[in-house]
Amino acid sequence: MTVLGTRPEAIKLAPVIKALRARPGVETTVVSTSQHRELLRQALDVFEVTPDVDLSVMQPGQTLEELTVRVLPAMQQAIAAGQPDVLVVQGDTTTVFVASLAAFYQQIPVAHVEAGLRSHHLYNPFPEEANRRLTSVLTTLHFAPTELARQNLLREGVADAHIAVTGNTVVDALHLISRSARFATAPLPLTIDPTRRLLLVTLHRRESFGGALRDMCGALRQITASHPGVDVVIPVHRNPAVQDAVLEELSGVERVSLLEPLDYVTFLRIMQASYFVLTDSGGVQEEAPVFGRPVLVLRETTERQEAIDAGVARLVGTKGENIVSAAAELLDDRSAYDRMARATSPYGDGHASERIADLLMARFGHERHVS
Ligand code: UD1
Ligand code: UDP
Repeated sequence: MTVLGTRPEAIKLAPVIKALRARPGVETTVVSTSQHRELLRQALDVFEVTPDVDLSVMQPGQTLEELTVRVLPAMQQAIAAGQPDVLVVQGDTTTVFVASLAAFYQQIPVAHVEAGLRSHHLYNPFPEEANRRLTSVLTTLHFAPTELARQNLLREGVADAHIAVTGNTVVDALHLISRSARFATAPLPLTIDPTRRLLLVTLHRRESFGGALRDMCGALRQITASHPGVDVVIPVHRNPAVQDAVLEELSGVERVSLLEPLDYVTFLRIMQASYFVLTDSGGVQEEAPVFGRPVLVLRETTERQEAIDAGVARLVGTKGENIVSAAAELLDDRSAYDRMARATSPYGDGHASERIADLLMARFGHERHVS
């Protein structure tokens, strides 16, 4: 049983679901908590994955508490009805933590995809750092995307035999889409002018809500004002806390396009067409280096250190002045840009899902005896 609730879980689990479905003898049930509604559907449609069970928990403006107490009994019923051999979860959302807790209460083993990422700051990212640590406690099989993630788990006392380094399935998803025929022909929501430079921006972290988010928007205003050859595009996340701040701060600003969230094909096309990326997203930090696009990480901490160590991402924080100066360096200093604009894939080789499916089969595969 695979559980997903949000956009990144759909993107990162779709290749795992496909790999499992390609193996004979595997019965795969996909449960959607629908913690996200439109964003999840948009992501799943691209991969042609339809959930078998939909728990429809999303409420507009949901609090963490409301979400948590809606997911727990709904997952309890889904697990009791499905009686899976293993529950597969991915990442660090409330869906992941609460679904793992529900499985634990029924003594169903949990396999955690993208296990072991740590910022080592309990409140940053919030609540994801805690969700990931709590999920690790409830997990039987940890699929660490990188060696660094494996080391984090070992330091916390997880037995080596329960950890496998698989790569991150986001690279599988990216390859699946960017190497498909539809990628090159996907219609774009804006005209790409090769004589101008496009900056792709995404923002949605809870710990930035309020002043930091507005400060970041102010930085984007300054960057465009001081660089006439630069355009900014922001597909605005559906969280009302993001919508309110971003629309208020950036509506009508010259050369800043505020778009609806983009389907994954279109989003990747725009990423590829961009000069560099400014983001607080986990997945986007992992994807942009594959296309050789530098990433400015608009967060105070990251649990994705690998791209920073590789020199293709920079943790610039959430203060406007620091964002403006880091962006200006990339825009004004060609050699600084070239040092970061190297295609590299520190998070995986595109075969993580096959490894995960093989490991799941090796650990949980068994003959069903029909009497
Ligand atoms: C959630 C995850 C975060 C992840 C992000 C990916 C938690 C606590 N947060 O944050 O870790 O990085 O998803 O995008 O698990 N909404 C819609 N339609 C949608 C999706 C969201 O209207 O399709 C609005 C709703 O008003 C909803 C609100 O956004 O109540 C917040 O959604 P929620 O999943 O609680 O938090 P995110 O900020 O999306
Ligand atoms: N993404 C997308 N459309 C968008 C913005 C992002 O398809 O308009 C994809 C992006 O490529 C990445 C994932 O959504 O794979 C990241 O989701 P998000 O930033 O919401 O969550 P996080 O990764 O931070 O948990």
